[in-house]
Amino acid sequence: MPNQPDVLEKLVSLCKRRGFIFQSSEIYGGTGSVWDYGPLGVELKKNIKDRWWNAMVRARDDIEGLDAAILMHPRVWEASGHVATFTDPLVDCSNCKKRFRADDPKIKGTPGQPDGQCPACGMKGTLSEPRMFNLMFKTFMGPVEESASVVYLRPETAQGIYVNFLNVQQSTRQKVPFGIAQIGKAFRNEITPGNFIFRTREFEQMEMQFFVEPGTDMHWFDYWKEQRMEWHKSLGLDPARLLFHEHTKQELAHYARAAFDVQFDFGGTLDFQEIEGVHNRGDFDLARHQEYSGKKLEYFDQPNNKRFLPYVVETSVGADRTALAVLVNAYKEEKVEGEDEGRTVLALHPSLAPIKAGVFPLVKKDGMPEFAEKLTKELRKSFPVFYDESGAIGRRYRRQDEVGTPYCITVDGQTIADGTVTIRNRDTLQQERVAAEHVGEIIKARIGS
Ligand code: GAP
Repeated sequence: MPNQPDVLEKLVSLCKRRGFIFQSSEIYGGTGSVWDYGPLGVELKKNIKDRWWNAMVRARDDIEGLDAAILMHPRVWEASGHVATFTDPLVDCSNCKKRFRADDPKIKGTPGQPDGQCPACGMKGTLSEPRMFNLMFKTFMGPVEESASVVYLRPETAQGIYVNFLNVQQSTRQKVPFGIAQIGKAFRNEITPGNFIFRTREFEQMEMQFFVEPGTDMHWFDYWKEQRMEWHKSLGLDPARLLFHEHTKQELAHYARAAFDVQFDFGGTLDFQEIEGVHNRGDFDLARHQEYSGKKLEYFDQPNNKRFLPYVVETSVGADRTALAVLVNAYKEEKVEGEDEGRTVLALHPSLAPIKAGVFPLVKKDGMPEFAEKLTKELRKSFPVFYDESGAIGRRYRRQDEVGTPYCITVDGQTIADGTVTIRNRDTLQQERVAAEHVGEIIKARIGS
């Protein structure tokens, strides 16, 4: 299969220049692998989260929404297995002081042994024995910094769902099978973060836990696998760049009985990488919380008069990683027929585009700016619009192409005469003339979701 081009560096620069994504605390030299979303980035990410929430919660009657707190009782993370097993083996180089994962393929020889060679400085015998390092961020609750007051920033949102399983089930009177979904921040002190927003220390997850009767779990696992792949395609991700990766026994997380990743081809050396995990978690989590809390978490099946601990099928996707996939997938540099200068275009699915339409008066006179401003105001009631009257019209089109705006509306001399405007399509570059009073409805219908 041909390798997709590496567009990451160009994207990082476009994202900064146009206000999608900035390095966190940049004026202080930046914070390691933490990023801020600018005016356009926050819209893009919100659109992705809305698409997920609509598909998972609003369009169905068997999934309920939740927004659990980031800080939880510390026992939660003992029960979940994160305190004991959410760790990576690390080695340090005593010469250059760099730190690596012990399984880093760039390490030559065996860490801790004379032949262990540092991938950074090239010295032999300077790598330490592997030491386990927990990925959870620790902090203190209350005024006293002592071990009794340690709390963790959650490394996944899922646990907030498990501890609320009965609250949600009983308050909504849902019957198994049903799911609970939430979107929220998660934190991991990653050893090898990087590749822009691909792997960061603070990120957002969109997770759904589907509670099912034991024995039906593989049926639901297959169901959710397919549903989630279809969702990624519905965002406009190229199907040729998407595939499933089944976890081997060695790859399975401590809670999983079976797992598939949805992978996307990010191009360059990143190649195919996980964007979402679909996991059959069995009753691992509910059983552990039942054991650690001493509270029964069984579901009562009234028609069959029996109690059982449901199994869980989880779908877990990163909002930031999806945003990166969407951006990489959309980034194009094109030649334009009849023009010397090419164009950079973000061919974003219209439902994800931060700005849905640009409105331009062709020139700054003859009543065109007034007409265009009035139209902008009207359209803003329905979707985000950018008004631009500065510079040559071609340049204004290019500025919108680069941020993925699917439609540009131009108010020209004919508009003043007969009330029509042109709509230019970002992808085909075709222009059509329509009555200004219909332009809002036309674009709304095309944006879809
Ligand atoms: N609750 C299960 C869970 O958290 P995971 O495979 O560790 O599973 C799920 O994470 C998704 O969260 C990943 O597929 C990825 O999209 C996102 N994710 C995980 N760690 C991340 C990080 N450090 N930076 C950005 N996204 C991350």
